[in-house]
Amino acid sequence: MRYCNVLLRITIVIAVILLIAGVLVACEFSVLINAIVDRMIVLRPGTKTFGWWAKPPVEPRISLYVYNVTNADDFLSNGSKAIVDEVGPYVYSETWEKVNIVENDNGTLSYNLRKIYKFREDLSAGPEDDVVIVPNIPMLSATSQSKHAARFLRLAMASIMDILKIKPFVQVSVGQLLWGYEDPLLKLAKDVVPKEQKLPYEEFGLLYGKNGTSSDRVTVYTGSDDIKHYGVIDKFNGRTHLPHWTTNDCNRLDGTDGSIFPPHITKERMLEVYDKDLCRLLPLVYEREVDTPNDVPAYRFTPPEWVFADVDSHPDNMCYCPAGKPSCSPNGLFNVSLCQYDSPIMLSFPHFYLADDSLRTQVEGISPPTKEKHQFYFDVQPKTGTTLRVSARIQINLAVSQVFDIKQVANFPDIIFPILWFEEGIDALPNEVTDMMRFAEHIPPKIRIVLIVALCTLGLVLLLLATFCLIRNSHRQSTLHLEGSNYLATAQVDMNKKQNKDNAPTTRY
Ligand SMILES: *[C@@H]1O[C@H](CO)[C@@H](O)[C@H](O)[C@H]1NC(C)=O
Ligand SMILES: *[C@@H]1O[C@H](CO)[C@@H](O)[C@H](O)[C@H]1NC(C)=O
Ligand SMILES: *[C@@H]1O[C@H](CO)[C@@H](O)[C@H](O)[C@H]1NC(C)=O
Ligand SMILES: *[C@@H]1O[C@H](CO)[C@@H](O)[C@H](O)[C@H]1NC(C)=O
Ligand SMILES: *[C@@H]1O[C@H](CO)[C@@H](O)[C@H](O)[C@H]1NC(C)=O
Repeated sequence: MRYCNVLLRITIVIAVILLIAGVLVACEFSVLINAIVDRMIVLRPGTKTFGWWAKPPVEPRISLYVYNVTNADDFLSNGSKAIVDEVGPYVYSETWEKVNIVENDNGTLSYNLRKIYKFREDLSAGPEDDVVIVPNIPMLSATSQSKHAARFLRLAMASIMDILKIKPFVQVSVGQLLWGYEDPLLKLAKDVVPKEQKLPYEEFGLLYGKNGTSSDRVTVYTGSDDIKHYGVIDKFNGRTHLPHWTTNDCNRLDGTDGSIFPPHITKERMLEVYDKDLCRLLPLVYEREVDTPNDVPAYRFTPPEWVFADVDSHPDNMCYCPAGKPSCSPNGLFNVSLCQYDSPIMLSFPHFYLADDSLRTQVEGISPPTKEKHQFYFDVQPKTGTTLRVSARIQINLAVSQVFDIKQVANFPDIIFPILWFEEGIDALPNEVTDMMRFAEHIPPKIRIVLIVALCTLGLVLLLLATFCLIRNSHRQSTLHLEGSNYLATAQVDMNKKQNKDNAPTTRY
């Protein structure tokens, strides 16, 4: 009987433990799953995620749209508005690979990025040797920069340009505009300018030198020490900060390369991407939930509207304007000249999306921007921080300053001249990757429910059974006890009777 009671009590304790476990699972299961996810994604050589990071199993593409100037002569001779015709897309598929990967002993990895571009005529509007007419970027950079130089220098420049027959517009193929053509001015500069100030090349192309292994050495955190730094850049070419801007915060480059982000992304978090050509960290804020191919839900992050805002509407952007107030960029443009050998290159979103409309209408032929076609976005799987889909859309513009002393460009007004825009992106990850994400997304909640139901049911059933048994047992025990006292009582009565019998004569007497 006593052993039985002990067993029942143990059962009750087990039942209570099961119930507590059920409640714990209900409250803390996600913590456990997060810990598992964190361990899985850390960039450790040999793991699957490391392989995907080092050699992404995707085919990114870059599609370029060039603004072909159709009235260059009228524009220069009688001051007509420039008319541009957007031609494209010219599509290249890319393969990305991180090479020379070295594991450092402080939870970081260093690598160089290799990007190989392959022209995809099947996806393009025309062949790579389609001819376009675009502003002569090296020449207009030189003339615009000479604005504040001595007058004799500008005159000298004018005669050199005369001799070399350099014109403000060039007729080049799309391939040349991107991958480089020999530019007489750059060639001259290379021969004349002292070694220290030399431009690094004599060809000019907007993607010049980008087909191949980059010389930039990048060090990123693997996430093994602190998952909050997963994929974040520690150093870029040995620097932890850029040298160009006026505050430490604006000089930061501790974003990711955009392929991964520190996991467990919430809608309140601001993501940050560093791209060398952007010359800064690009902040991204949550916009909405989206569905991506393969049925993996994602959060869409886009640059906030203030990212390229002018300093009047967003004073924080003052740090990107080291030359001081009058030369700060207009609303919607970002001045990257400090990263581009002082060429007056201004970035914006395509069709001047999020910029003042007056910029778009400075030239004729650019349709109003639309969010679907011209927005920049990242679709990120929030649990693992993996980018599922990207469309990085940027327009390159040239800020031309009118210089009267140089007769070739005397009629070229002050203008932000659009050159081209591109979208570089990934449409979808391969099934192998998304299967794992779908698993991570859908299975843990199911396991959680099953565990909760199982633990709680088992606990409750055990508890009820044990309590029921205990109650029944104690009931039976108390009846036994009662019977026992009855017996005693009867014995007493008998004894009394007996005594009475013995005493009877005495009493009688
Ligand atoms: C660009 O414009 C020029 C001059 O109008 C024209 O000859 C050329 O065919 C155009 N290029 C494309 C790709 O349409
Ligand atoms: C400039 O010249 C073209 C013809 O060459 C003409 O159609 C146009 O109207 C002229 N524009 C101005 C502002 O004179
Ligand atoms: C980690 O080690 C690498 C290589 O020694 C070094 O460049 C980097 O600055 C270190 N990073 C940190 C955060 O200590
Ligand atoms: C890039 O380089 C590869 C070889 O490394 C070459 O096959 C390919 O044609 C190049 N792409 C372009 C656009 O020049
Ligand atoms: C771009 O920035 C450079 C360097 O700060 C400055 O000298 C230049 O005037 C700026 N250009 C424009 C068009 O604002």
